[in-house]
Amino acid sequence: MSVLNTLAFVVFPYLALTTFVVGHLYRYLTNPYDWNSKSSELLDKEGLKIGITIFHWGIIFALLGHGAGLLIPQRYWDALGINSQAHTLFATYSGFVVGAAALLGLALLIYRRISKDRILATTTLNDFVTLGLLFFVVATGFANVVSGLFDHFDILNTIAPWLRGILTLTPDASLMLKVPLRFKIHILAVLTLLGFSPFSRLVHIWSVPLTYLFRRLIVFRRREVSL
Ligand code: HEM
Repeated sequence: MSVLNTLAFVVFPYLALTTFVVGHLYRYLTNPYDWNSKSSELLDKEGLKIGITIFHWGIIFALLGHGAGLLIPQRYWDALGINSQAHTLFATYSGFVVGAAALLGLALLIYRRISKDRILATTTLNDFVTLGLLFFVVATGFANVVSGLFDHFDILNTIAPWLRGILTLTPDASLMLKVPLRFKIHILAVLTLLGFSPFSRLVHIWSVPLTYLFRRLIVFRRREVSL
């Protein structure tokens, strides 16, 4: 059991994270023109709008929430006057809102891929795997949030330090021994998605177009500087 636990929560995470880092670097350096989100907006704009918007808002805030909640040790939150109880309560309710948005958005995106002929015709197996894996990750995460409303599990002293240990190269698989299966399934699904990410359209996540915020409104007109 403990060997299986070490395989799942030390060996597998490092395999997935190495594939994630090396895979992204390799793809970016060898095939930069393929590094994009493979937009399907030209084929169907109306069907895309709602799903893509609520999915992206939901998933981006879910990622930020995971970062703040799991990577920052509780002692720093304590110093800010946010104790573990308040932390968990906020994580549960905000997780419910952003998780529901991401899940609903994904369901709409998958429905669009299947129901619109021209979108289905241009959808690859890779797209289905990406959307299917994402759906599984978000659905298991959302299910954990919902069950957290009824049955509390102490994530802050188990999963959170385990994750920080993985990222700081001081892994401790024993922290995961008493974690309920529902969390383990979510974590293993996330690691699988991270390992698959470099081979999919998810690479676009790393190219946040921040310069877009500061670009000229009419891009083909030179900016005149009046003296
Ligand atoms: C960092 C900010 C992000 C930006 C600027 C961004 C931008 C985009 C754009 C422009 C598209 C193409 C939409 C179209 O078809 O025209 C797209 C699609 C997509 N994005 Fe993102 N994205 C971001 C983050 C994410 C994250 C964090 C995820 C998931 C973890 C994600 C997953 C997807 C998926 C699965 C699609 C394809 C949806 C479909 O066509 O069915 N994106 N994104």
